[in-house]
Order: sequence, then C-alpha cells, then structure tokens
Amino acid sequence: MDFLDVMRARRSCRAYDPDKGVSREELLKIIEAGRLSPSGCNSQPWKFIVIDSPEAKEKLCDAVVIGDGITGAPWRHQVPAFIILVEQHAKVMQCVIDHYHDSQRFAPGDVGAACMNMCHEAFSLGLDTCIIGMCDQQKMEKYFGIPQGCQVRMVLAVGHAAAGSTPQNKVRKTLDEVCSFNCW
Ligand SMILES: Cc1cc2nc3c(=O)[nH]c(=O)nc-3n(C[C@H](O)[C@H](O)[C@H](O)COP(=O)(O)O)c2cc1C
Repeated sequence: MDFLDVMRARRSCRAYDPDKGVSREELLKIIEAGRLSPSGCNSQPWKFIVIDSPEAKEKLCDAVVIGDGITGAPWRHQVPAFIILVEQHAKVMQCVIDHYHDSQRFAPGDVGAACMNMCHEAFSLGLDTCIIGMCDQQKMEKYFGIPQGCQVRMVLAVGHAAAGSTPQNKVRKTLDEVCSFNCW
C-alpha cells in the first residue's frame, strides 16, 4: 500500500470490540515504531508505558478525561490496550538551549511524531487507534509512578474496531488553506 493511501485510510477509532485483544508482540511492534522516530538532537525525550492488565486499565480509565466523544474518551472501557506517551527531559545541544532558553522546545513535537508513527504501524498491523489528549496529570503520576515534571502528552488507545462501527469521515482543510510556496 502506498504510504499516502495508509494515511488516507487511517481514522481515529472510537468504538472497539472488547472481545478482540491486542498481543504483546503487536504492542511491541507499535512501540518499536515510536522508538525509531526522529527527535530534536536525537534526544528521544519519551517513555512509552503499555497498559494492558485489567487493574492498570481500570486506573487508566479513571485518569482519562471522559469528555464529549471527540475530546476525552467516553468509550474508553471497551479498549483492550493503551500506550501512555510521556515526555521526558530532553538532552539537547547547548546551542539549542542558548537560542531558545528551553531544553523542551522540540520535545512535544518529538512525542507527537512518535505517536503518529505508532498509529500508522498499528494500522499496518490491522489494528485501530485513537489518540487521547486529555488526562489528569496528577492521577497519571499517582497510578503509574510517572515522575513529577514528566508530562503525559497523549494516551494511545489500541484495539480492533467494533463490527459495524463507522469511523468519522476524514475532514481536512483544503490544500490551498494549508500550503503556499515561497511566502505566507
Ligand atoms: C493531540 C491530539 C489529541 C487528541 N485527543 C483526542 C481525544 O481526547 N479524544 C478523541 O476522541 N480524539 C482525540 N484526538 C483525535 C482527533 O480528534 C482526530 O485525529 C481528528 O479529529 C482527525 O480525525 P482522524 O484521526 O480520524 O483523521 C486527538 C488527536 C490529537 C493529535
């Protein structure tokens, strides 16, 4: 499949089949896609925490903001596995710190790039995903031992779409709205 076709076909999934699990082998392939992702100064400022035990999933479901369906995850109890993407301190080159006075300048983008690669790897394995952006940072730290100061940037739900569920249409701005050549 051409990679653009993969990107056109992938959709956020908000209805999962609770009876179809995800294997550790599949989850580790998804993590590998994150691990191989590019990052500023190759700092790899991420940690991926797999949540696949019933006890851990219960806690995760409590820490994710319920929201209205597009934000948050009212559908979270159906999901067989999650991956928490945590931003870690980025060890970047001194010139970056001198210029931006911020070692984390690139880190949220790095974690986002890793997340997207993980979504596409999951899709190539026949799995469905949804990025969940809203969670309770304090609960995440308490439940999963995440060190203070390490922000949870997103949680990735991974599973198989429920039979008969229809994902949202892909709605995107037009090319003209988002692209120009040689100036704004
Ligand atoms: C940073 C980020 C946070 C998101 N948070 C949520 C969320 O909390 N709940 C949800 O259902 N979808 C969430 N999404 C998914 C977006 O709503 C979705 O990607 C967008 O509507 C485009 O649809 P598509 O993924 O099907 O192409 C998030 C996506 C990103 C990139």
